[in-house]
This record gives sequence, C-alpha cells and structure tokens, in this order.
Amino acid sequence: MQILTIETTCDETAAAVVTDELCVRSSIVASQDQLHRRFAGVVPEIAARAHLERILPVIDEALTRAGIKLADLDAIAVANTPGLAGSLLVGLVAAKTLCAVTGKPLVAINHLHAHIYACRMAARREVFPCVGLIASGGHTSLYHCSGATDFEYLGGTIDDAAGEAFDKVAAMLGLGYPGGPPISRAAEHGNPRAFHFPRGLATDRSRLDFSFSGLKTAVRYAIAGPGKPDFSHARLSTEQIADLAASFQEAVVDSLVTKSLLALERTGLGTLCLGGGVAANRLLRERLATETRQRGIELHIAPAELCTDNAVMGAIAFERLREGKLESLELDALPGLVRHRT
Ligand code: KG4
Ligand code: ZN
Repeated sequence: MQILTIETTCDETAAAVVTDELCVRSSIVASQDQLHRRFAGVVPEIAARAHLERILPVIDEALTRAGIKLADLDAIAVANTPGLAGSLLVGLVAAKTLCAVTGKPLVAINHLHAHIYACRMAARREVFPCVGLIASGGHTSLYHCSGATDFEYLGGTIDDAAGEAFDKVAAMLGLGYPGGPPISRAAEHGNPRAFHFPRGLATDRSRLDFSFSGLKTAVRYAIAGPGKPDFSHARLSTEQIADLAASFQEAVVDSLVTKSLLALERTGLGTLCLGGGVAANRLLRERLATETRQRGIELHIAPAELCTDNAVMGAIAFERLREGKLESLELDALPGLVRHRT
C-alpha cells in the first residue's frame, strides 16, 4: 500500500509518498522561513497565502518523484490538527478535493502525534508504549503514548512553546530566524552559568506543565537592564551574546529534561520519544541521552530532517487506516490542542 501525506499546519508546505512498510518514496518540503524572517516568527496570514501558492506544485512533485499517479494511491492523509487555522485549511481542502475526484479514502493526521511517529519512522521498529515529548515552534507537550493511535495528554506549556522562546530570544540577540540553530551555535562559546534564568514550572513536581514566557522576559531584562523592556540601545559583545545564549538554552533544556523524567517516573514507562523542531537541539539531545542512560530508559530522538515539519511523519496515518479509522469529506480543521485521549 502507498499513501500521499500532506502537511500544512504551520509554515512548511510538505507532501510525501510513503508505503505501509514505512519506506519513503518521496518527500517534499517547501519552507517559508524567508517570508517570516523579518517578523521573527510565523505570520499566519502570510503562511496561509504561501501554502495556497505551493500546495499543488508540492503535491505534484511528491507524486512525480515517487514515480506514481494519483490513481496508484491507496489513501490520502492530511494533518488537520493542531495548527494555524488558515494554514490547516489549505492542506485539508487540497486533500479533500483529491479524495472527492479520485474516490480515495481520507485519513486524518494529528500533527503532534506525527512528530512522535517520526521516532518510529527512524527506529524502523516499535517504539510504543512510550512517553512522547514534542518541543516545537508552536507546541511543547508531553504525552503518554500507549500505541500509535492512543495518545493521552499529560501536560504542556501554559504560555509560549520552547521553540517560540528560542525564536524570540534569538531576535533579541540579533541572531536571526529561526532562532534555534543560531542560539545553539552561539551557546557553544558561552558560559551556561553566566546568568541564572528562571526555569518556569520545572520545580513544581505536582504537574507536567511548562512555562517559558518568564524566561523570555528575564532575558530581555538581562539585555536592557532591570525593569527596562526596551533593549534597542543595548550593545552586546560577542562574549555577552554567547553567555546569554548559553544560559538561556540551559534553562530551556533543564525544563524539558526535568519534566520528561518526571513523566517517565509517573507513568512507569521505559521509553522516551522526542520530536519537534527543538529536538534538533544538540544540548537537549546530549542531556537526555545521559539522563536516560543512567536510568535504563530507551531513548528515541527523531533525526534532524524529521524534527522540523515534514510530511514523512504523516505515515502515522497507516496506523489509523489499519484500524479502519477513515474520515468523511466533512472533516474539519481543528486549530486548537485537543487535550482528551485520542
Ligand atoms: O516542528 P517545527 O518545524 O514547527 C512547529 O511545528 O512549530 O519547529 C520549529 C522550531 C523553531 O522555533 C526553531 O527555532 C526550533 O524549532 N529549532 C530549534 C533548533 N532547530 C530548530 N530549537 C533549538 N535548537 C535547534 N537546533
Ligand atoms: Zn510541528
């Protein structure tokens, strides 16, 4: 069997052809980073319009590279939750239209579950049951994943996502967008203990939630001076930028690692899967590797190319297809996070 998977939840227009043996026949990702760079974050209206221009060429390219026609597909799958409303709609309408004209079955993809499934794709073997941590530009959530179609939300950020904090702090430090890669590069030359930034809810063991907005504010004050929100006058040396980047990154990684370990403790599970753009962060990967090794926990981290948004991880749709979980053409976009068990 082979399916077409479509991903337009945020600012990447992506399509892939994958087989039920989890072989990738083609994978196309059209990034919009250039369009959003000057705003230091994704502008929803710009993202939706760009998806509209790219969606058909991207799907076409995915089919061409796989050497197949629409008629050869067994189903069409699309990420319909969570994400930006306008962005989700473009992928969803494209998928539904293709299903309407070809009569192929429609399968829904939960974008966050798919980020965890990226670990399954890379491992080439079962990773469930596991604790799943998704840390991306739009989300930071922990799940108890009993199986590929059974995810229970354990907790998540109550304000900004980890990646959003990376992007905004990078903008404050003049490091560009997206912020994760340049911050981790700058941090390599910095002292992670130069500034002690807040860890949000990391010390609260009663919940599996995160908070990164206070950290963002703390970095702002560290740049501009206490109580001064305007940092435009600040002239930072390369050393100061490196120290700020390293101390900030340390605080984010501390929070993510602490709550992942707490989730493993609470659930009693022996496997941790990490996905989402921030999973590309080297310090986070190294820290988790050390902590899980010490505890005898199996760790799966999505490879760099499957960390940021892509359509390959949409192969999770096969799991629903196998269970006969098909959608009607009434399927809608659900921008918000669904917290109940799905
Ligand atoms: O998963 P993703 O492509 O988009 C969402 O679904 O949100 O994640 C993008 C996020 C951006 O915020 C980017 O700064 C962050 O992932 N990111 C990183 C790294 N590479 C990308 N954050 C920290 N360290 C990295 N190396
Ligand atoms: Zn994502």
